[in-house]
Amino acid sequence: MRQKHILEVRQFSRQEMESLFEEAESLERLDAYIGSRLMEGRIMATLFYEPSTRTRLSFEAAMIKLGGAVLSVENAGATSSAAKGESIEDTIRMVQNYADIIVLRHWEGGAAHRAAAVAAVPIINAGDGNREHPTQALLDVFTIRRELGRIDGLSIALVGDLIHGRAAHSVALCLSRFNQITLYLVAPRELQMEPAMVDDLRSSGMDVTQLERLEDVAPQLDVVYMTRVQRERFSSPELYERVRGSYRMDAAMLARLKSTAIILHPLPRLDEIEPEVDADPRAAYFRQARHGLTIRMALVRHVLRQHG
Ligand code: NCD
Repeated sequence: MRQKHILEVRQFSRQEMESLFEEAESLERLDAYIGSRLMEGRIMATLFYEPSTRTRLSFEAAMIKLGGAVLSVENAGATSSAAKGESIEDTIRMVQNYADIIVLRHWEGGAAHRAAAVAAVPIINAGDGNREHPTQALLDVFTIRRELGRIDGLSIALVGDLIHGRAAHSVALCLSRFNQITLYLVAPRELQMEPAMVDDLRSSGMDVTQLERLEDVAPQLDVVYMTRVQRERFSSPELYERVRGSYRMDAAMLARLKSTAIILHPLPRLDEIEPEVDADPRAAYFRQARHGLTIRMALVRHVLRQHG
């Protein structure tokens, strides 16, 4: 892997993903304690223009566990100079004077690419609008491998808001790097994945089926990837009201799944997974969030190693 920035999933070949997963596994030992010196003397800035809990904190914890330090701008749209009208490019030109790596989340699709175009230090895209969330997808696929031992040959459903969900976009693209995946895109018509993206997935050789009812495929699935309906990205509140709550993983739906299936969710969840599901061993979403830490440790290490 030779990337300076981590901007989108397309940057990663299958082999590169696998070597990242191996590195994450080897870093799991470090995850148990703070005290590694791998990143000693290095500073990470996290610049978040949209809300986040897991992504920002896991990046920061990753850097701290590697021995580095963190500067954090939460709610950057309101509290940084963006509130005075500074462009993202100028903000990056400033922040790179104080940090060796910048983790950026922004409401605008393409913001990470704009940042990278002017950045002297590595930029990691922690979500840009409805476009991509590459580090989430890498940890999702890593979780599947940890839970089920493989990725090739699996039947996987992405469920919910597939048009606005950047995590859904990125995980679908990540999966298209593997072989013999059967992908079900389960969404109300208004929230189905964009045709151009579906074409891309099919042209990679993946078997893709679009449908509305999760019940129809539930018994065949190895992985059910639930997603939140992304209220903040709707221009019509009426449409949001109509489609919210379209899917619900509850005891009845759980009963239709294979005993070996796993349920993932990038989180936060609203009502698409009932709390009664949490105690089931197939509920893997909190384990998934935990893997975010080790994948991000591996990514930070990789990027800073490339950058010297
Ligand atoms: C996701 C995101 O921000 O895109 N959250 C996350 O990073 N785990 C999913 C979401 O907000 O629904």
